[in-house]
Amino acid sequence: EKGTYPHYMLKEIDEQPLVTRKIIAKYRNEDGGITVDADIVEAVNSADRIYIIAAGTSYHAGLIGKQFIENWAKIPVEVHIASEFSYNMPLLSPNPLFIFISQSGETADSRSVLVQIKELGHKALTITNVPGSTLSREADYTLLLHAGPEIAVASTKAYTAQLAVLSILAAVAAEAKGQSLEFDLTKELGIVANAMEVLCDQKEEMEAIAKEFFATTRNAFFIGRSVDYYVGLEGALKLKEISYIQAEGFAGGELKHGTIALIENGTPIIALATQEHVNLSIRGNVKEVVARGANPCIISMKGLEEEDDRFVLPSIHEELAPLAAVVPLQLISYYAALHRGCDVDKPRNLAKSVTVE
Ligand code: F6R
Repeated sequence: EKGTYPHYMLKEIDEQPLVTRKIIAKYRNEDGGITVDADIVEAVNSADRIYIIAAGTSYHAGLIGKQFIENWAKIPVEVHIASEFSYNMPLLSPNPLFIFISQSGETADSRSVLVQIKELGHKALTITNVPGSTLSREADYTLLLHAGPEIAVASTKAYTAQLAVLSILAAVAAEAKGQSLEFDLTKELGIVANAMEVLCDQKEEMEAIAKEFFATTRNAFFIGRSVDYYVGLEGALKLKEISYIQAEGFAGGELKHGTIALIENGTPIIALATQEHVNLSIRGNVKEVVARGANPCIISMKGLEEEDDRFVLPSIHEELAPLAAVVPLQLISYYAALHRGCDVDKPRNLAKSVTVE
């Protein structure tokens, strides 16, 4: 039930701090640390390469999950769009593990890959919000998102839940290999939940940004480097699917290789700056587009902020920044769609779960 909320999407955005805390509680062990079923950890750590398979928003979560697993557990990861993998399978490593990320657990494109890799005798883990879903039943292992039902077509809380569960899986796998993280993930995820709460209390600010940048525009670009690039891809997908603004996410350094030709006077550019090691370079990219007339909206993180930034996120652990950085993008998309008179919860041409290939 959406209760007093005008839309499920807004309710589900607001549930993110709670869902993050619930995930911490569900994966906590008696000593206050985190835990994942031993056979799943064993499956992860005995793979020579992990293949993440997903679609849409879940694919965007996979791109960030790759960073967690590679940086912490030191296992190479490839992330694939399910529909492409299915018809153009890459050369596989000798001992792969497949991770299917799917909110619904019913996406036909992902299922088709699962059927193919099971025929080849490979192991699969499904990360899903729906216990008993097809992808969960047909995989060897399941990790649940515990996000509660997601009704709005645009995925919000499932995405941040996917990131939280992927971070936990990567951290536990790293620990089991004797490569403990340099920080306390449970504590840092708690700080993320608090930051999400602060962000959800800043709706007026997000509405103002939506009105300022997206009231009448036909297109918009999201740029970022490193994980900010992946968050930008998700921000662009949210905006286009519910507001019908043509939006694209780009790696900061890639725009000048062609797409910069599209920048006109007033073209909105949402730039993310949450990562210290690429802060200078992304700001250089913003200058390049501003010189061509773009209207920049820089969203940075406290500690990296500069005077002209439009919005500053509370400070959280840098590697977990995507969990907070996506929240303003979700809210801005929501208000952009609302003010353009779109059906926020049921955008045209889309279904909540895509059960055809
Ligand atoms: C976007 C969105 C879709 C889904 C995609 C995969 O907001 O909801 O892009 O993420 O269809 O769905 P699942 O995760 O159910 O496999």
